[in-house]
Amino acid sequence: MTHSSNSQVSRRALQAAGQPISQLMGMALSNPNIISLAAGFVDNASLPVEATRIAADKVLSAGEASQTALQYGSNNGDQQLRQLILDHAIEMNNAAAGKTAEYNTSIDQVFITPGSNQLLFLIADTLLNPGDIILCASPSYFVFIGAVKNIGGQTIGVATDQDGIIPSSLEAALETLDRAGELNRVKAIYTVPYFDNPGGTTLTAERGKEILEIAKRWSREQKIYVISDEAYRMLRYQGEDTPSMHHWDPSLEHTIVAGTFSKSFSPGIRVGWGFLPADLQGPVGDQKSNLDFGAPLLAQRIMANVLQDELWLPHVDKLRAVYDSRRLAMLHYLNEFLGDVPGCHWHETRGGLCVWLTLPESIDTGMQGEFLKSAVEAGVIYVPGEYCFASQGESPNHSTIRLTFGVQSAESIERGIRILSEQVKRWQ
Ligand SMILES: Cc1ncc(COP(=O)(O)O)c(C=O)c1O
Repeated sequence: MTHSSNSQVSRRALQAAGQPISQLMGMALSNPNIISLAAGFVDNASLPVEATRIAADKVLSAGEASQTALQYGSNNGDQQLRQLILDHAIEMNNAAAGKTAEYNTSIDQVFITPGSNQLLFLIADTLLNPGDIILCASPSYFVFIGAVKNIGGQTIGVATDQDGIIPSSLEAALETLDRAGELNRVKAIYTVPYFDNPGGTTLTAERGKEILEIAKRWSREQKIYVISDEAYRMLRYQGEDTPSMHHWDPSLEHTIVAGTFSKSFSPGIRVGWGFLPADLQGPVGDQKSNLDFGAPLLAQRIMANVLQDELWLPHVDKLRAVYDSRRLAMLHYLNEFLGDVPGCHWHETRGGLCVWLTLPESIDTGMQGEFLKSAVEAGVIYVPGEYCFASQGESPNHSTIRLTFGVQSAESIERGIRILSEQVKRWQ
């Protein structure tokens, strides 16, 4: 439903109408036989029912502590879970860096949110006045782009290559904003450093450091934060883990880390987290207490037990095997069906759940174009790339598509890519 003529609702609500995610879901539901290569869902069969049952049983058989788990919790989140998450992140960073850094991040800097989307929204809401700017990769996670827009901020897209945001392009974007007298509007640089959604790219450790240095150097008029959205860090299928930006900024002066168990455990439990610079603790906490004064405690206690009893990492290992075979299937069939079509290319992601596909320039993959309608009729749906571009900066490429391999079996991926390739050959 569109409510463009409804004067009772706010401008923000009007502006949020018609989100691509709901439209795409509607389209997918309209045809039960459609192969959705669009959904950001995780694999249903791999959801950790048994591990969750064990942890939930424990939470609910603990006498008074069980009652506590069914109470309101604290605004910042369950203390034990926060500590476990922080310890795990530091351990991973030290292992990836091959040496131990002196972390002085305190537990007070750790927040639990119902999913990392809430954390990202809170950050944007805390940092941005109308017209303020967040620089991000081009393309970027469209839900975050939408949230910034909804708050009245602007996103500016920065050019990327196979390693994510190009530091010299980031520098050039900041120079341009400085010349235009707009540097004081730049509040943050948003990155998804591991297996970006949608680009599939991963920042090298060097690049992560460089981006952090750029943020520090350009923090002349006010601080420019770097948001490191690590939603897919655990879903690596190839290569070695790299230290998070947190490792180069161990007391979190500029870095905001966002993380989630949605992809690596269960989005139904929906527990996410943030590691925040000390100067944002109070303001983000205030915003959060306006919103929900604490994430659901039952879910947090279940996750604390999952971590404590070492049920998480074995599950992640299983997931990696499942998703890797689907990733390989998608890359294989893209190569088989589209490998010799001029103008088609994609990045061979080493983790995460997405492949970013570029089609010949003559094809407009957008919501209003004939190509999408025809693809849906033929039985496949994808996320049009146009949604993943910032409001300004790098121009949107309307011939792009975000594909996901998390949900479909290898057979369905084969069928989906075959149908898609037939459409490409028909419309190019
Ligand atoms: C890059 C990225 N960040 C954050 C999220 C948010 O996940 P959740 O709110 O379920 O933690 C997602 C979900 O798809 C994502 O792709």
